Amino acid sequence: MLLEMKEITKTFPGVVALDKVSFNLKENEIHALVGENGAGKSTLIKILGGIYKPDSGEIFLNGKKVEFNSPLDAKRHGIAIIHQELMLAENLSIAENIFLGKEFGSPLNLNFHKMVEESKKYLQMLGFEIDPQTKVSKLNVSEKQLVEIAKAISSNAKIIVMDEPTATISEHETQILFEIMKELKEKGISIIFITHKLGEVYQIADRVTVLRDGKLIGTKNIEEISSEELVKMMVGREIKEMFPKYNKVQDEIILEVEDFEVIGYVAPVSFNVKKGEIFGITGLVGCGKSELALGLYGVYRTKFKKFIIDKQPLLELKSPQQALKAGIVLVPEDRKSQGLVLLLDVVQNITLPNCDIFAPSLNIKWKKATETTKKQIKDYNIKVSGEHQKVKNLSGGNQQKVVLAKFLLKKPKVAILVEPTRGIDVGAKIEVYKLINNLANSGIGVILVTSEIPEITGLCDRVMVMHRGKMIEILEKGEITPERILKAGTGLVENV
Ligand SMILES: Nc1ncnc2c1ncn2[C@@H]1O[C@H](COP(=O)(O)OP(=O)(O)OP(=O)(O)O)[C@@H](O)[C@H]1O
Ligand SMILES: [Mg+2]
Repeated sequence: MLLEMKEITKTFPGVVALDKVSFNLKENEIHALVGENGAGKSTLIKILGGIYKPDSGEIFLNGKKVEFNSPLDAKRHGIAIIHQELMLAENLSIAENIFLGKEFGSPLNLNFHKMVEESKKYLQMLGFEIDPQTKVSKLNVSEKQLVEIAKAISSNAKIIVMDEPTATISEHETQILFEIMKELKEKGISIIFITHKLGEVYQIADRVTVLRDGKLIGTKNIEEISSEELVKMMVGREIKEMFPKYNKVQDEIILEVEDFEVIGYVAPVSFNVKKGEIFGITGLVGCGKSELALGLYGVYRTKFKKFIIDKQPLLELKSPQQALKAGIVLVPEDRKSQGLVLLLDVVQNITLPNCDIFAPSLNIKWKKATETTKKQIKDYNIKVSGEHQKVKNLSGGNQQKVVLAKFLLKKPKVAILVEPTRGIDVGAKIEVYKLINNLANSGIGVILVTSEIPEITGLCDRVMVMHRGKMIEILEKGEITPERILKAGTGLVENV
């Protein structure tokens, strides 16, 4: 056995993150690690990577007991990790990041030229066309993810761990990554792969290990387990309905726009959203759907003939403050940079953007804020050790729920949710779907911007499909099928 982790236990104040979890990895295998948010996946990986020390338990590499006292220790033993929270040096270039700690040349005489050339090679393997001398701070999340992947494959690791590498990259890039993973496997490298997308598990993994609430539920060969059984192992119960849908669309229009243009990004579009409706916007990466969403929220420069929200015409839309005032809320996709202050606790995060509610004068009413936060934690089923836990220490999915909870406290007229289920587990996804139904039923118009086709077919009443900055068509209820969406989304339908 290449790697054995035996009876690993790790506790944090108030949480048993791992309770005697054993995990093993064979030579030449891709081993998926799955489980709900907060199950302990990243913690197990951080122990393997020398970031955390386990309270008890042992690690063996090729049968030899090892102990990692630092990330460097783990690296020296041939373990490369792509963490869920990307760990790039923002102020360095792509090439410098890829070769950080393994630079060419002597420390006083670095061979930059060679680093740039070599970086190009790895980036090209990933189909990522970019100058390796670009600063990492200039990249968006998916591009940073690709740099992390390039960095891991360029190290001479025997074991590569990928903690949710596909959460932020597109379907197309995911397929490229899978090809590379297969090549790495051929070359004798073993991969631990964490994902919440079960389709991916079946596409790429040889074995799968399931954790739940810090405990090992089991390890299976992929051929031995159906997806229903796998979901059951993950959530501990049978899931009957993946897409609960019980919203009632009303006749009244809550938002109507005519010839709405996001200058430089999206050509004029006209559409309306009704009270109680779940209106989808979808298309491939780069189609302009996020830009349209941000435009409707006043982030980008826009032009329009008509913009009516709850019967009130809007004359201009120049800032998110104006959008908020008009009753539009946007829940952003990149929770780490746009949604949360990681170093603050849950109460502070929920209070911060809602000072109008909690601080009518200059003093923040912490008691009220704490009470409300407790209610939000309960309503949104957020897994925390207490309302004062730092957001940094929550699992990814629970961070996402805090983002939703804090934005939706505003009681908007129109809620724009951008990729609201990114990185969250099956169980939590269903909860978010219910929440979307409840939002709609409270009379809000919900705009769901997503690249997940099942979410569109399962939840939306109508959907706008975009391609290259243009609206291709709006599909009505009976027309929403994966085929129609893909056809329009790849530009195969004439724009009428
Ligand atoms: N540094 C920390 N301090 C306190 N608690 C922590 C810390 N890191 C993790 N936890 C807690 O340990 C548990 C396991 O978290 P972990 O991040 O391993 O989950 P995960 O399976 O990776 O979830 P996700 O799918 O959401 O990423 C959670 O309850 C989390 O809140
Ligand atoms: Mg995690």
